[in-house]
Amino acid sequence: MRAIAADEIAPGGMKTVELDGNEIVVCNCGGTYYAVQRRCGHMNAPLELGTLDGTYLTCPMHCAQFDVTSGEAISGPVPPDLGHEALPPRLGAYMQNIGMLMKDVRTESMRTYRTRLEAGWVEIALCVGAPGRLAEAGGISKVLPKV
Ligand code: FES
Repeated sequence: MRAIAADEIAPGGMKTVELDGNEIVVCNCGGTYYAVQRRCGHMNAPLELGTLDGTYLTCPMHCAQFDVTSGEAISGPVPPDLGHEALPPRLGAYMQNIGMLMKDVRTESMRTYRTRLEAGWVEIALCVGAPGRLAEAGGISKVLPKV
């Protein structure tokens, strides 16, 4: 299915497309195009607002990283650096609560979609590639692929 003109995405860039209700980010990795689900496997942030370094996509919200070639979560979220100064008590309690909630949120690998370059268009097959790994809080662990 035609998704986007290839020249609409600069090298190192990303664009979002919607195909049959699927939100997909198309990544231009040096002229090779990859397509992954739009929403982060951690807490659903829109990944096209993140950064693409080679084939590694970093989420804009908590900096989990994914390999767009496989969808694999290669690192989990990074806790915010709040410095060493004490926070105002209510803000400190709030941040502590958020930290407790987030430590149990798993980061799932991303769905990927096959792509092909045809007559200047990036085409995407909507049969979904199954993520093969899962990044858990505090580390990465292998799990069976989803069916
Ligand atoms: S939402 Fe992407 S790392 Fe948290």
